Amino acid sequence: MSTHATTIQPDTPVMPDPMMPVPYRITRVRQELPDTFTLELVPVGGSPRLAYQPGQFNMLYVFGTGEVPISISGDPKNHKMLVHTTRAVGPVTNAMRTLKKGDCIGIRGPYGTSWPVEDAVGKDVVIVAGGIGLAPLRPAMYHVLAHRDRYNRVVLLYGTRTPDDILYKSELERWRAKFDLEVDVTVDRATGDWYGNVGVVTTLIPKVPFDPSDAIAMVCGPEVMMRFTALELQKRGVPLDRIYVSMERNMKCAVGLCGHCQWGTTFVCKDGPVFTYGRVKEMLSVWEL
Ligand SMILES: Cc1cc2nc3c(=O)[nH]c(=O)nc-3n(C[C@H](O)[C@H](O)[C@H](O)COP(=O)(O)OP(=O)(O)OC[C@H]3O[C@@H](n4cnc5c(N)ncnc54)[C@H](O)[C@@H]3O)c2cc1C
Ligand code: FES
Repeated sequence: MSTHATTIQPDTPVMPDPMMPVPYRITRVRQELPDTFTLELVPVGGSPRLAYQPGQFNMLYVFGTGEVPISISGDPKNHKMLVHTTRAVGPVTNAMRTLKKGDCIGIRGPYGTSWPVEDAVGKDVVIVAGGIGLAPLRPAMYHVLAHRDRYNRVVLLYGTRTPDDILYKSELERWRAKFDLEVDVTVDRATGDWYGNVGVVTTLIPKVPFDPSDAIAMVCGPEVMMRFTALELQKRGVPLDRIYVSMERNMKCAVGLCGHCQWGTTFVCKDGPVFTYGRVKEMLSVWEL
C-alpha cells in the first residue's frame, strides 16, 4: 500500500479557507433610510487588494448572531474598502444595524456571478432597480460611468414605494444631472412635495429611449418586480437572454456545498446570483426554495 505524503514547500501560497470569515473593521456607518444602512469596511490588519466584480456578494458574519449574504454596493475600482448596504429585516440584519464605527464583522467572499458589464460594451445599457435592489446594481453603474465611452445609451430606471424610500438620493440627483445618462425615478405613492413620476417602475419602460435589439438589461428588486420588468422589456423587444436578474434566495455556505440554495441542478450561490431571465423564469414563479 502506498502512502501519499503532502509536502508543503516554504513558498507555497496558503489559500484562505473559503468557509472562514476574515475580520473587517467598520470605518463608517451611513444611515440611508430608517431601516437601511451602509457599512464601509476595511480588513483588520490590512490587505493589499479587494477585487470583486459588480453584482457579486459577500457573506457577512455578525459575531455571535449569524451570517447573511449581502451584495457589494461600492465602487469596484476602490480596492481599499468594501461597501455593503443592508436593510434590517430579521435577527442578523437587525444585529448588524446596531454595529458602530470601530466594530468588527466577519467577511467571506466575494462569491457568485456578476452583471454582464463586458458583454454590454458597444450596446445600450438599461438598468432597472426596485427598492434596495439599487444596491447590488450600483457597482455596475459605477463601472459603466467609469467607462462611459464604451457604451451607447445608458438608462437607469428606479422605483420605490414612496419618495421617503429613495436610496442613494443625492447620488441619483448627481447622475440625473448628466447629459449622457437617462435617469428616471418613480414612486408607487406620492407623498409630501413629490412632483415626479407616480406608478410602478415598469410604467417607465415603454417611454425611455433605447434600442431593444441592441440593449442589455440588468434588473434587481423584489421578485414580482423582476418578473413584470422582464415581461415589459420583452414587450419592447429585448430578447430573454439579454435580460439579467439577480436572485436573492436563502443561502448558508455560498460555495455550492450545502444545497440550501439549490434549484434542480442550479446553485444560486455559485451559478448566480446573476442569471439571464431565460434561465430562471420558472424559478421566479416559485416563492421560496
Ligand atoms: C446573493 C444575495 C444578495 C443579497 N444582497 C442584499 C443586499 O445587498 N442588501 C440587503 O439588505 N439584503 C440583501 N440580501 C438579502 C439578505 O441576505 C437577507 O435580508 C438576510 O439574509 C436576512 O437575514 P436576517 O437574519 O436578518 O432575517 P431572516 O429572519 O433570515 O429573514 C427575515 C425576512 O427576510 C426574508 N429573507 C431572508 N433571507 C432572504 C433572502 N436571501 N432573500 C429574500 N428574502 C429573504 C425571510 O423570508 C424573512 O421574511 C441578499 C441576499 C442574497 C441571497
Ligand atoms: S448556499 Fe450552500 S449550496 Fe448554495
